Amino acid sequence: MKINYKITIGVLVISSLLTVVLLKNIFERKAEAGFRYVELVKVAEDDTNPEKWGINWPKQFDSYKLTAQPTKTRFGGHGGSEALPEQKIERDPWLKRMFKGYAFSIDYRDRRGHAYMLEDQEQTERQTKPQSGSCLHCHASIMPLYRELGKGDAVKGFEMTHQFSYKELNEMLHSSGHGHSVSCVDCHEPNTMKLRVTRPGFLKGIQVLASSKAELPQLPSIERWRESGQSQPYNPNESASRTEMRSFVCAQCHVEYYCGSAMPLEFPWSNGLKSEDLEKHWDETIFPNGKRFFDYKHKESGAEILKVQHPEFELWSQGIHARSGVSCADCHMPYQRDGASKVSDHWVRSPLLNINKACQTCHHIDEKEILNRVNIIQDRNYKLLQRGGKSLMDLLDAIQKAKQNGISQSELQEVLEFQRKAQWRLDFIAAENSMGFHAPQEAARILGEAIDYARQGQIKVLSIE
Ligand code: HEC
Ligand code: HEC
Ligand code: HEC
Ligand code: HEC
Ligand code: HEC
Repeated sequence: MKINYKITIGVLVISSLLTVVLLKNIFERKAEAGFRYVELVKVAEDDTNPEKWGINWPKQFDSYKLTAQPTKTRFGGHGGSEALPEQKIERDPWLKRMFKGYAFSIDYRDRRGHAYMLEDQEQTERQTKPQSGSCLHCHASIMPLYRELGKGDAVKGFEMTHQFSYKELNEMLHSSGHGHSVSCVDCHEPNTMKLRVTRPGFLKGIQVLASSKAELPQLPSIERWRESGQSQPYNPNESASRTEMRSFVCAQCHVEYYCGSAMPLEFPWSNGLKSEDLEKHWDETIFPNGKRFFDYKHKESGAEILKVQHPEFELWSQGIHARSGVSCADCHMPYQRDGASKVSDHWVRSPLLNINKACQTCHHIDEKEILNRVNIIQDRNYKLLQRGGKSLMDLLDAIQKAKQNGISQSELQEVLEFQRKAQWRLDFIAAENSMGFHAPQEAARILGEAIDYARQGQIKVLSIE
């Protein structure tokens, strides 16, 4: 029985090795969670100025300030100077035609670092069309103003802000001293520094999502909450795991939304997080005036169009990384070693500028090879996206020609529905900022559907003529 004996020893060695690895992992995680600091000043809920927090946590503050640095990758960040980022609508002319009739056809640029979020919003020429106060939800450290407006109740204050014009609310923000970009207090509870979410739009959205029937294997705390048959609504600040919180703090803003003056800001998650779930939510939404929901009427065709905005959280949630418990912060705010302690890099930016810390902690392959793999994914996505743009332009050409030939708006009704569906999908991937990386196969599926709907619309026009 010599062989069995050897196997038993082997199994014992392997299992004790595994235990050591596991313990090491647990100790490391504990060390990460239980970081130490000297509290030199007291920070509180109304301290939106990050400089004050920087006195206690200088390392995080130093890296946070670097979001003012210009960065550039093939598809990410923006170009090198102090000037405003490049116009997306000039680079891809089909985007401009797709947005005809909407402020995005006037000015739509590359995003840049968090330090600029308030300034860029104040300066965009989209402001030449009156915008609503809801815009500030994701571009400023606005919680104290919500509390002030709601007389202590932030959600109540938030629900009033869509009725203010952007200019009015922006003035109130600055005069109350809270004219800052996203700040420490937006993601951290000031007494304990624990991660937390603050934004009412997210809190409402995630509650509605939790109450839906959508399968959410990537968000296990929601599944647990459902199984336990809780009577209280899902509260991420109580129920979410630390891993989930490392994505939820970003999902306060990097999501699709409605932001106009007709209703409060809304995240469309009542049917789930997939592209078609969000579309269904909007299709089922009725404006207070009784009309079906849409963001704008397309200037050439008259179709009632849905505009998509940066659905990073939604697309990420359909990918293999989310499924494997890899959070936004793992890639966009990786730990840096600092002597014996670890500091989360608060220079939130493209992980491709930091592959060593952002990817190689998990992927033990050459940096160049990692970059190559990302390049392949992004190239494929870019090419399919351009094809999508071309097919939509062909549909718009066909509609224009039909109109010149005297085909009426009502005869075109079905065609315009195809345009709405095609644009929703095309824009979903165009507006998402990872050029397909966050969930490559899902991005390809959505673009495939976009092309299909555009071509179906085109065939339909030809059958009318
Ligand atoms: C597995 C790593 C990974 C995870 C997890 C991840 N991202 Fe990304 N993200 C990337 C990569 C890679 C890019 C492409 C960067 C580029 O093209 O320069 C990207 C791009 C972005 C961009 C555009 C960056 C720029 O410089 O313009 C944003 C914004 C973004 N991600 C937000 C998020 C959010 C929010 C989450 C979580 C919901 C998330 N990411 C999760 C890897 C990740
Ligand atoms: C309060 C809203 C808000 C939160 C919270 C937020 N972001 Fe952003 N983020 C923005 C806005 C707005 C911009 C664009 C700023 C601009 O272009 O002026 C942006 C830009 C970015 C960029 C592009 C940076 C560059 O250099 O081009 C990345 C990457 C990013 N965010 C990732 C994240 C991640 C990861 C998280 C969570 C840890 C997060 N964001 C949390 C609103 C937010
Ligand atoms: C739910 C959160 C949210 C709301 C509400 C929001 N934004 Fe943003 N905004 C972002 C994020 C995240 C980015 C960075 C990603 C990107 O550029 O796609 C961004 C980027 C921008 C940019 C820089 C890139 C560009 O598009 O030119 C401008 C300008 C901007 N927003 C203006 C506005 C205006 C005006 C409103 C109100 C109509 C608004 N935002 C409402 C989250 C939001
Ligand atoms: C967009 C959200 C966001 C903002 C804004 C933000 N942080 Fe963080 N912070 C995080 C995340 C995510 C972690 C990682 C926490 C974890 O994994 O438990 C973190 C971790 C920390 C930690 C714990 C130690 C570490 O480095 O991991 C400190 C201290 C900290 N942040 C300080 C600050 C300070 C100071 C500011 C303002 C200058 C700030 N943070 C702004 C998201 C944010
Ligand atoms: C915390 C761990 C972790 C980090 C950090 C991480 N990954 Fe991953 N990655 C995974 C896991 C897990 C998978 C799923 C495949 C597997 O189980 O090996 C995966 C899969 C992938 C895949 C193949 C799947 C696909 O979507 O096509 C690519 C490419 C990839 N990662 C690139 C990156 C890049 C680039 C970064 C840094 C920006 C990164 N990863 C950061 C854990 C990680």
